Amino acid sequence: LAAQLPDKDCASVTPDYKTLIARAARAKHVLGGRPLTLAEKILYSHLDDIEGCLHGAGRVRGEAYLRLNPARVAMQDASAQMALLQFMTCGMPSTAVPTSIHCDHLIQAVDGAKSDLERSIVTNQEVFDFLQSAAAKYGIEFWGPGSGIIHQIVLENYAAPGMLMLGTDSHTPNAGGLGLLAIGVGGADAVDAMTGTPWELKAPQVVGVKLTGKLSGWATAKDLILHLAGKLTVRGGTGRIIEYFGPGVLDQSCTGLATVCNMGAEVGATTSVFPYTPAMRAYLQATRRGAVARAADKAAAQGFLQADEGVEYDEVIEVDLSSLEPTLNGPFTPDLATPMSAFGEFVKEKGWKDEISAALIGSCTNSSYEDMTRAADLARQAKAAGLKTKVPFLCTPGSEQIRATMERDGVIEALEDVGALVLANACGPCIGQWKRESTGEENAIVSSFNRNFKARNDGSSKTMNFLASPTVVTAMAFSGRLTFDPATDTIPDKDGNPFRFSPPVGEQLPATGYALGNPDYYPSPTPKPQPDVDVIISPTSSRLELLEPFTSLYDKNSVRGMELPPLKVLLRVRGKCTTDHISAAGPWLKYKGHLSNISQNLLITAVNDEGGEVNVAADPDHGADESITDTIPHVAQRFKAREQPWALIVDENYGEGSAREHAALQPRFYGCALIIGRSFARIHETNLKKQGVLPLWFADKTDYGRIGASDTVETVNLSDVFSGRLDTPIRLRVTKRETGEVFEVATRHTLSADQVRWLEAGSALNAIRALKAQ
Ligand code: F3S
Repeated sequence: LAAQLPDKDCASVTPDYKTLIARAARAKHVLGGRPLTLAEKILYSHLDDIEGCLHGAGRVRGEAYLRLNPARVAMQDASAQMALLQFMTCGMPSTAVPTSIHCDHLIQAVDGAKSDLERSIVTNQEVFDFLQSAAAKYGIEFWGPGSGIIHQIVLENYAAPGMLMLGTDSHTPNAGGLGLLAIGVGGADAVDAMTGTPWELKAPQVVGVKLTGKLSGWATAKDLILHLAGKLTVRGGTGRIIEYFGPGVLDQSCTGLATVCNMGAEVGATTSVFPYTPAMRAYLQATRRGAVARAADKAAAQGFLQADEGVEYDEVIEVDLSSLEPTLNGPFTPDLATPMSAFGEFVKEKGWKDEISAALIGSCTNSSYEDMTRAADLARQAKAAGLKTKVPFLCTPGSEQIRATMERDGVIEALEDVGALVLANACGPCIGQWKRESTGEENAIVSSFNRNFKARNDGSSKTMNFLASPTVVTAMAFSGRLTFDPATDTIPDKDGNPFRFSPPVGEQLPATGYALGNPDYYPSPTPKPQPDVDVIISPTSSRLELLEPFTSLYDKNSVRGMELPPLKVLLRVRGKCTTDHISAAGPWLKYKGHLSNISQNLLITAVNDEGGEVNVAADPDHGADESITDTIPHVAQRFKAREQPWALIVDENYGEGSAREHAALQPRFYGCALIIGRSFARIHETNLKKQGVLPLWFADKTDYGRIGASDTVETVNLSDVFSGRLDTPIRLRVTKRETGEVFEVATRHTLSADQVRWLEAGSALNAIRALKAQ
């Protein structure tokens, strides 16, 4: 295989293997020389302080907290907005690590690539202008609308074996197909890496998946992960990294491995990783990164890019690839896996109509050259039989490089010949950006995407999405039937004779190298920051708003010292309160870059424990002629207008769910200073501290019910913690509004010395800004 174009300059994308290998060896030594998994080698070699983090940590996996220095950050256009707005407040001239922005989520699929792209650029112009100008100012690589989907571009350009990177998107683990750890995070975590602040992660457990045998016929790498999703379920990977090993790893393409890692997100895994293989080397060479391949070869020879002999995993699962058959997962959850041979019976049992209404291939999960050439092979077989697809057949290329190579090699022509509609190189229908004429009736679609939650694709909760390999999806498009098994079933050809597909054949990599396509889509590598560039935000925008740094709530000159001012309790929240309850998604997503606007959804689905109503808070200090109850965001707004800082009382595991930084930013924006809970979800607890909100745990959980709306809460001995006595439990003095009764409650905290500085400064970003200004 020879790439036609010269190799890229790989200086900025080749890991410093010498240092990483030395650091992994040090970590192993600190851990007593025990064999390490590949995931551990990568994680521990990126630790900020190996001895400090691992020494005395005992059992690390599943217990220790790691402070890590990721080597790179990638952000998609929706989540990049708040991440950048936060980064801007820390006053740094450029990001501390190479960072890229990818415009992929905001492009709506309507009638084809060209017009969809033109229309979406107009609709989202202000967001794209903001992202592009901020990228120019801070030296971030900007991949504009049409250039491709974040994970495909990362795989083609930035991913390198053995590195640790973060991405502000759940499917960032896709890059694990190239033998690295790529972790999906929220914007606040990305800002840690962008500012050079160690990023904290509870050391995941490592599940080993041993692959034996060989895929054959219609079975693909996608079927491996569909099968595993069925075994592990949507929660089976939580707090765990999935690490593959065994002889079955070697037979698969790098892009196939990426598909497997991509969908590790569906079982909740922190990320997934494969050891370095010849297929990865070939992919690096084909994507013009020969220098990375050569460096990785040497690192692999020193044992860095695979697990040590005799390593122990927290759990081992074995999969014989030879016995895998095509699998369909769904509807409505990616872990409902049914092997193709049992799928017809399943459909019958459920009483679903034996028809599909659309077939979709591509997305970040399955738009490799291998996937597309296999789909084109089926399309050519069908064309020779005089067949066209029976239902809309949509194809989303993952990047301009893939699209241009497909075009050059006749793949697009083969697909269009049988009726395919090729969409823009963007997320499109995968993320609900699909303007579909919906009947509102129950219907089934098949896709090679990764997620199939209700209403995700076309907004209709009646649309059942079954996930399958791109080849199975393509074959089904010709039959139009949900129960069609291309390995055994026939469809009538143009003369009415039975036609059966031969198992699809494709090429892992293009024999003449990848085509680049439109050169305008490629940013210059390692762009220089341009401090003179003004970041474009219209003052009248409803979607973007500059963030004002939060002012500190503490005044060391006050007579009370470093104590919080007296706080009013806004609300006692009952039961489950996830980040989605705190900052709802759906229609609010368009305000992700506008804190004032999105804050109007604060806690709108939270239950008030004093009365049991949803989105109701009391405000007895409001004017007597008006109702004392109102919605939670309205009462919070009134407190803000009165400059009345406030506290929240919350129940167990407050802030569980996705690492949404808005859930911490919004309460702080309205003046929240303190949240006292029975327990907190760790990531959200850290996010609160980052925004300058103090989270405290009730020492006695029954105290939860003793504090209610409009009571006053004061800290009694927080000054001790601020003066360095970190192990001091913090006491609160409570004054009941109704009775005037005063009592104290005991709490505990999890503040570190760094986090105390965040609170003191008003936020972590303020602290970073002060530090950088020194
Ligand atoms: Fe985009 Fe869907 Fe992938 S939203 S990043 S194509 S999971």
